[in-house]
Amino acid sequence: MIWFTGLSGSGKTTIAHVLERKLADADVPVELLDGDVVRENLSKGLGFSKEDRDTNIRRIAFVAHLLQRNGTFVITAAISPYRAMREEARMMAKDFVEVYANAPLAVCEERDVKGLYAKARAGEIKGFTGIDDPYEPPPAPEVEVRTDQLSVEESAEKVIDKLIESGYLK
Ligand code: ADX
Repeated sequence: MIWFTGLSGSGKTTIAHVLERKLADADVPVELLDGDVVRENLSKGLGFSKEDRDTNIRRIAFVAHLLQRNGTFVITAAISPYRAMREEARMMAKDFVEVYANAPLAVCEERDVKGLYAKARAGEIKGFTGIDDPYEPPPAPEVEVRTDQLSVEESAEKVIDKLIESGYLK
């Protein structure tokens, strides 16, 4: 289980896609559970209260658990803002690599890919992660990628290096 965590706009999804492609090209069975996609399907109807986020993360962890039990590498890319939920996911995994996509809030806000930070600042969205809702950074992630300093390619390579170093990949 390769578990990305980080603010909205930190690059989780972008890196996850490149990583997925690299693993698939190496004939590694891989699935990507992206937060936005999960919320349109498996978690449709859930909002962004702590309770709903926890439910969302539990669902992702559960599906990831089923997939990896059958030998599939699972990449997840949801904000997963709460440490306790990420630890729960870790407990459900056979093997767990937490990847912290770390870019300063100011950088994520500047990117504002979906225009949601502007809305959150304007008060049109309440409880936006990093603005008026918590993000608990991982104290000891297996991999940290400073996405304001590394390219997408370099970030994906850093994860691959960790997978090799940990004996999950040759
Ligand atoms: S999580 O907290 O449950 O892990 P998830 O990754 O699934 O979040 O969804 C986050 C995405 O939902 C963001 O990238 C953003 O596009 C959108 N979003 C909408 N409202 C919020 C909000 N209040 N806080 C964070 N993200 C939000």
